[in-house]
Formats: sequence, structure tokens, C-alpha cells
Amino acid sequence: MRKKLVAGNWKMNKNLQEGIELTSEIINMVRDEVIGNVEVVICPPFIALSSLINLTQGQKNIKIGAQNCHQELSGAYTGEVSAAMLKSIGCQWTILGHSERRQYFGETNQLLAQKVNTALSQSLKVMYCCGETLEQRNNNEHFNIIENQVSEGLFHLSAEVMKNMVIAYEPVWAIGTGVTASTEQAQEIHAFIRDLLVEKYGNETAQSLRILYGGSVKPDNAVELFSQKDIDGGLIGGAALQSRSFTEIVKAAQ
Ligand code: 13P
Repeated sequence: MRKKLVAGNWKMNKNLQEGIELTSEIINMVRDEVIGNVEVVICPPFIALSSLINLTQGQKNIKIGAQNCHQELSGAYTGEVSAAMLKSIGCQWTILGHSERRQYFGETNQLLAQKVNTALSQSLKVMYCCGETLEQRNNNEHFNIIENQVSEGLFHLSAEVMKNMVIAYEPVWAIGTGVTASTEQAQEIHAFIRDLLVEKYGNETAQSLRILYGGSVKPDNAVELFSQKDIDGGLIGGAALQSRSFTEIVKAAQ
């Protein structure tokens, strides 16, 4: 049985005070006995990581993650944050390859393969994102795009390492648009990704790895999405910015 995971990606939202307030509300609303078998990861901007890691100390099921990190461990890279720095503050997770990073910051699968290695070298757990644009889907290129993103970014990893990776399927056309992929569309891609994993790594590894869905997940569509065979939770944007909607989504994953 794969443990469900619900992660909140705050993107460039919430200042420190707002972040502390939101996280405190989430801690109060999402008690261990309420969330039971769901893992929760909150990914605020870098400036809030340290405070929120302290705030969630002792919370069994709520962890804090970064939204990105650099591919080098240190050096003359003005404005960047390294995986080693994240490790030094007790950060346990990072998102990598979000479509906004790919689109606005030119991140390629090759660069992401390096970032994955660097993050893993610091024992960070990685949520690796993939997803097609609307144009790619309309041109029927989505399977190819997803296969390239997953294989070029991750398939250099050993089966042992791969087991603990998390992949997030986030169709670009569903992010922040209010248009969710239908459960059939989401399940179809998740099953496709799992098949790729079976082919490359065998069934045991493929069945261990969690695949999250992201893109306009809301309390009213989360239950149906999370009940699909290959959907192991969600990566939540807009709805993660409010404690009520986020915790309802967490409960939907139970
Ligand atoms: P929304 O939930 O706002 O569509 O964002 C999804 C996302 O990009 C999470 O990483």
C-alpha cells in the first residue's frame, strides 16, 4: 500500500507572518489522528522554511519542503539556494521541475537530472514534476512529452533510489486555471507513467513509487481524483493557500 501524500506548493505567495499563521492553522486542523495515514508536505518560499521547520517540529505527518534548489552545492551563483543549505536547516523535501520553473526559468530535463542528483546527494526527498501544455495535448504529443520528462530527468537513477521518488503529474493547462483534468485523463497518464516505470525498473519499484496529481485540485474534486488506482495524492497550488481548503483536501486523501 502506498501512503497517500498531499503537498501544498505556495509558489511566490505568503510573507513570513502569513506563512506562520497558515501553517499554525493547518497544524491545528490536521491533527495526527485526523490525517491518519496521509503524509503532508508544505512548500513555502525559501524565506519561511526555517521558521516553519521549527513550527512543525514534532508533527509526525507534516513536513516542510522547498520549491526548488540549485544543481551545484555551492559557488558563485548569485541569488540561488543549494540543496546543502536546505539540508543544513533540516529541510526534508524539495519540488523539482515544476512547469513554472521549466517555462519561466528555462529548466530542461537534462538540468533537472543534475538537480535531482544534487538533491538526493543531500538526502532530500524529491517531488519531480512533469506535464504537457494544452498545445502538446491537442497535438496528441502528451504521452511523448511525459515519457521524455520522466525518462530524461529520472531514469539514470537506480531502482533502489527510484522507489523513494515522488512524481507529480501536473498538466500545464490545468494549473491555476480552474480546469481540472478529468479523473479519466489523470488516471490515464498516471497509469502510463507507472507502465513506464514497470518497463524500466520492474513491478516492485513501480508499485512503490507515488504519483501525485496537480492542477486545480479543490475540496470538491479531490475525493474522486484520489480514489483512482494510480493517483497517490496531490500537489496543490491555489487551494493550499487557505487552511480550510487545504485540510479538506488532506482529509480527502484518507
Ligand atoms: P493549482 O492547484 O493552483 O492549479 O496549482 C497546481 C500547482 O502548480 C501545484 O504545484
